[in-house]
Amino acid sequence: MFCMGAIILEAQDLSLAPDEVGALLEVATQLGKKGWNRNMQLCNDTILPTEPDADNKVVCNCSFPGGACHVVAIYLKRQDLDGTLPKAIEKLPHLKHLDLWANYLSGKIPSEWANTKLEYLSIGVNNLAGKIPSYLGRITTLSYLNIQNNMFSGTVPPELGGLVNLENLDLWANYLSGNIPSEWANTKLEILSIGVNHLTGKIPSYLGNITTLRALTLSANNLTGELPPALINLTGLKELRLSSNNFTGRIPDFIQSWKQLDTLEIQAGGFTGPIPSSISLLTNLTDLKISNLLGDGSEFPNLESIAGIKYLLLSNCNLSGNFPIELTRMAQLKIL
Ligand SMILES: *[C@@H]1O[C@H](CO)[C@@H](O)[C@H](O)[C@H]1NC(C)=O
Ligand SMILES: *[C@@H]1O[C@H](CO)[C@@H](O)[C@H](O)[C@H]1NC(C)=O
Ligand SMILES: *[C@@H]1O[C@H](CO)[C@@H](O)[C@H](O)[C@H]1NC(C)=O
Ligand SMILES: *[C@@H]1O[C@H](CO)[C@@H](O)[C@H](O)[C@H]1NC(C)=O
Ligand SMILES: *[C@@H]1O[C@H](CO)[C@@H](O)[C@H](O)[C@H]1NC(C)=O
Ligand SMILES: *[C@@H]1O[C@H](CO)[C@@H](O)[C@H](O)[C@H]1NC(C)=O
Ligand SMILES: *[C@@H]1O[C@H](CO)[C@@H](O)[C@H](O)[C@H]1NC(C)=O
Repeated sequence: MFCMGAIILEAQDLSLAPDEVGALLEVATQLGKKGWNRNMQLCNDTILPTEPDADNKVVCNCSFPGGACHVVAIYLKRQDLDGTLPKAIEKLPHLKHLDLWANYLSGKIPSEWANTKLEYLSIGVNNLAGKIPSYLGRITTLSYLNIQNNMFSGTVPPELGGLVNLENLDLWANYLSGNIPSEWANTKLEILSIGVNHLTGKIPSYLGNITTLRALTLSANNLTGELPPALINLTGLKELRLSSNNFTGRIPDFIQSWKQLDTLEIQAGGFTGPIPSSISLLTNLTDLKISNLLGDGSEFPNLESIAGIKYLLLSNCNLSGNFPIELTRMAQLKIL
């Protein structure tokens, strides 16, 4: 009896507020997570990492007044969970990180989530469907939102533009349609990925005002029109992916303002030749992929000045002139 008491006492030293134990077990039930029970130590850690650093971990903060612990992060990546998104996280008021990456979760995003104070939310690589709900736009604490590789359809809700702290938004590989919303102008996005969807319409000019952007991925949609001149102002851009779209016009000369660019992908973008000679001013390029530039031919671009280029693909581009010797030093070179 004494031993039993001692064990329970020790467990309580790091123990959760009792209502959060109940909430955590509800979360487990909704997710289809087996193995947790009321009598075990459910907190693995008391230090909240800046990004998830484990696949299977619950982090609790035990520095609250009164000594009670509260759940601040749940990481359950690649755990074969086949339930639904847990509406019970609403009962964990201190939860900041939720990472359910790569499970078999299905259903919709629960409306209860609108009341959370999440900062990091990853539900990518699951079987989630339905519309991206507008109430996600109410979780204004979010800085990271990843819903890639699901089956979300419908339009991207303009309300996501209300996520004023959002830095990283990943909607890659869903069935989203409609235009790129025009309401993201006031965000501080650094990484925006909406590739592999069914988006139509033009690239909105206001994207040029989001000067925090470092990576922009629009590949594999049905986007049309020319690249808006306002994009000249994205001087911090490091990665730009525009492949597999229906753009028109030329690749503009102003690409030279993207001095930090290391990755440029414009395969089958719909653009017309030639390759602008100003590409030689993008001295930080490591990956350059251009294919299917329609129409007018180009001289082989002079890439002598781009010392660090590692991957070059120039295929089906109607290139003329002499094959430049310096191209032979590329690690991976494809010119078809
Ligand atoms: C966290 O605790 C659970 C339950 O005891 C355990 O299954 C899991 O492996 C632990 N995770 C880590 C990263 O220690
Ligand atoms: C834990 O909570 C306390 C009180 O709210 C806060 O001051 C502290 O920064 C938190 N620690 C972590 C690692 O989140
Ligand atoms: C683009 O539009 C065409 C014609 O409407 C359609 O056949 C095609 O599937 C669309 N592609 C994408 C990636 O949405
Ligand atoms: C581009 O648009 C044409 C019709 O204007 C369509 O047939 C084609 O599938 C589109 N291309 C892509 C890559 O979606
Ligand atoms: C780039 O930004 C400057 C300063 O905000 C602005 O005056 C200019 O019109 C912008 N350029 C384009 C092409 O939109
Ligand atoms: C290029 O990359 C280097 C090293 O990563 C960096 O210091 C520099 O600021 C970048 N930009 C330009 C224009 O060289
Ligand atoms: C290739 O470019 C030349 C002009 O440089 C043009 O005359 C020719 O029609 C182009 N070929 C194709 C297949 O577009």
